[in-house]
Amino acid sequence: MNVIRFSDLCARGQVAGKRVFIRADLNVPQDGTGRITEDTRIRASVPCIQMALDAGAAVMVTSHLGRPTEGEFKPEDSLAPVAARMGELMGRSVPVVANWVDGVQVQPGQLVLLENCRVNKGEKKNSEELAKKMAALCDIFVHDAFGTAHRAEASTYGIAQFAPIACAGPLLAAEMDAISKALLAPKRPLVAIVAGSKVSTKLTILKSLAANVDQLIVGGGIANTFMLAAGLKIGKSLAEPDLLAEAKAVIEAMKARGAAVPIPTDVVTAKTFAADAPATIKAATDVADDDLILDIGPQTAQALAQQLKAAGTIVWNGPVGVFEFAAFENGTKVIAQAIAASSAFSIAGGGDTLAAIAKYGIEDQVGYISTGGGAFLEVLEGKTLPAFEVLTRRATS
Ligand code: 3PG
Repeated sequence: MNVIRFSDLCARGQVAGKRVFIRADLNVPQDGTGRITEDTRIRASVPCIQMALDAGAAVMVTSHLGRPTEGEFKPEDSLAPVAARMGELMGRSVPVVANWVDGVQVQPGQLVLLENCRVNKGEKKNSEELAKKMAALCDIFVHDAFGTAHRAEASTYGIAQFAPIACAGPLLAAEMDAISKALLAPKRPLVAIVAGSKVSTKLTILKSLAANVDQLIVGGGIANTFMLAAGLKIGKSLAEPDLLAEAKAVIEAMKARGAAVPIPTDVVTAKTFAADAPATIKAATDVADDDLILDIGPQTAQALAQQLKAAGTIVWNGPVGVFEFAAFENGTKVIAQAIAASSAFSIAGGGDTLAAIAKYGIEDQVGYISTGGGAFLEVLEGKTLPAFEVLTRRATS
């Protein structure tokens, strides 16, 4: 993708003394008391901020947190806990500035965190007036919020139109590069794993990948619908029978390209959905009317693991079984370990996938772990994200 990279501006000495406005995605989960329960996005945002400070910029950073009502700031909307965590990570104090749209006092070498940008009126609807005011705060706008790259809001899109310079921060650039490597110019075979409870929520992804990948491994409730489409019985497992035609169309589209959707040959079943429900391994042809399929079987897992080990590129979204329950985690564990052992370039994203990666401790063996939730899914759907569109346009204007 042809965008201006902030790292290039820094390397060319074009950032010293400039006012730099960084849109980060610091939207992290918190418990009821405001304590941050998972800080990956804060840690992932620090390199860009440090890069700007090292280059001698006056640095403003903002993000949304949650989905507050515009114009109605509440204490729980505050980025203060994020500033505290960022301060710990960066070894400096990070002041939070409220009501910042009409002007911010910040000097070169200083860093301020601008309070939750979604509290500003006009943010969600990408108000031109708001975007122009934000653009006027800076000399350089840096989009480093991949997790929000699928939103065209005033602080992610409008500001990029009006700022003197609009560029991609290192996190956004790394995500773009990983996505391009995996989906635009993949080393083949390209294998995608798409799992989740419903075909309906991932149908566009399945269709888009069916036109590109060499193997499309489906898991979870999605696999159950595909098993039905392949003529297998799935008992009382979660599935969407009304989407059988769509599942068949995906299978046919893959077949027509000489590619495949591997259908499980064995499964792990239980009679109830519970951590302590007795698990039974059986052939996919032997599923009883009162069975629930909660994981792929060991034979299927091994076969998929072989394919993953031979892959050139792997895209992973979704655990293939109920990996939170020990009796039904084997499929996801084997897949995770196969990805870790594979020499393929791998990219993974999505909440449950990240939890599985953490559970099996394979963080260092996955080529790229995306910070995007919805944004990652929209990339898999084949959409051009608004952030990439506007930054590409600004690279030439
Ligand atoms: C996310 O958590 O996926 C991003 O921060 C985007 O949040 P949103 O769905 O509220 O726009």
